[in-house]
Amino acid sequence: MSLADRVTSAYVLRFGHPPALLARAPGRVNLIGEHTDYSDGFVLPMAIDRAIWIALAPRSDLRVVLHSLDFDTRADVDLARLEHADDGWPEYLRGVAWALQEADLPLRGWQGVMAGDVPIGSGLSSSAALELAVARAFQAVSAFKWEAAAVARLARRAENEWVGMNCGIMDQMISAAGVEGSALLIDCRSLATRQVPLPPESVVVVMDSMTRRGLVDSAYNECRAQCEAAARHFGVKALRDVEEAGFAARTAQLEGLTRRRARHVIGENARSLAAAAAMLAGDAEQLGILMNASHDSLRDDFEVSTDALNALVDSARRQPGCFGARLTGAGFGGCAIALVREDAVGDVVAAVTRDYEEATGQAATLYACQPAAGASVMSLA
Ligand code: GLA
Repeated sequence: MSLADRVTSAYVLRFGHPPALLARAPGRVNLIGEHTDYSDGFVLPMAIDRAIWIALAPRSDLRVVLHSLDFDTRADVDLARLEHADDGWPEYLRGVAWALQEADLPLRGWQGVMAGDVPIGSGLSSSAALELAVARAFQAVSAFKWEAAAVARLARRAENEWVGMNCGIMDQMISAAGVEGSALLIDCRSLATRQVPLPPESVVVVMDSMTRRGLVDSAYNECRAQCEAAARHFGVKALRDVEEAGFAARTAQLEGLTRRRARHVIGENARSLAAAAAMLAGDAEQLGILMNASHDSLRDDFEVSTDALNALVDSARRQPGCFGARLTGAGFGGCAIALVREDAVGDVVAAVTRDYEEATGQAATLYACQPAAGASVMSLA
């Protein structure tokens, strides 16, 4: 049964009548442009064909009642009295409601049932998918205008200020604005986007290491603080404003890891623009070379890779038909991706699965994914 059917029939069982609306928002992979978003840089993610779905109907009061099939728990939120509860996923619902209200959007209540197939905590942005699905639900029942970039900013505000995770804009933006069949080059300063399709006959394979590291938030926040410190050192608003050429001459006083992290960001911005150009030229080989360079820089300079991610990437790169491979998302565990020739996907998946188990004793999960549309809502009436 599809997720849409599952949440629809669970809604009927729970509330005794059919839902009025179906909202969905996707997870994402990032092809290149890692740890650049909070330095106002460039990212090149695509929304994927894995999403969170909510079947819902408006209520006449100011309550939101949402049941999660995945967690088998229920959130019951009073929009007139939003309070922190530190209870997991419902905090994202409250955070989005809070951020929308802070933007003076008058919200109505609704009730719904939710389920998803974005693996939770794997680095494919299950939390952004949850935020954007909830935002779509609010938008549909409260009838404010959907502007992808504006809603993405509010969803990020929910995560930064309500949930307390100091992420950049990439995940919310791609979940809001993704385009079916295309990746998006996003300028994280202006939020201008450009559609960039995958090179012909190439497929993105997700390689989930199945490792999940705790304390990611503090490690992530340290990366961010160091990039901001480096920008202050250079006297610019963000590392986006430092050119590769000007970097080398002025790094003497920067502490080692901060300097290498800044070097990664500056090089990664250039690689992301080059990757978009390679994709527009249909050049999978060149895109693969840039993806490899991105991973090596994240491993050696930015220092957010792990043995598990390196094992996946190294194995993928050895396979015929693989153009390139890199970790995707924040790092510290989670997923890597490989760009693979369409007719080699089965062989690459089998070989990397075998190699990874030999190298680590653990089972990885590998699957191809397709570029999908951003958050959407459909009326069932
Ligand atoms: C996480 C954050 C994003 C981005 C990536 C690293 O996914 O949520 O904002 O910083 O890490 O590129």
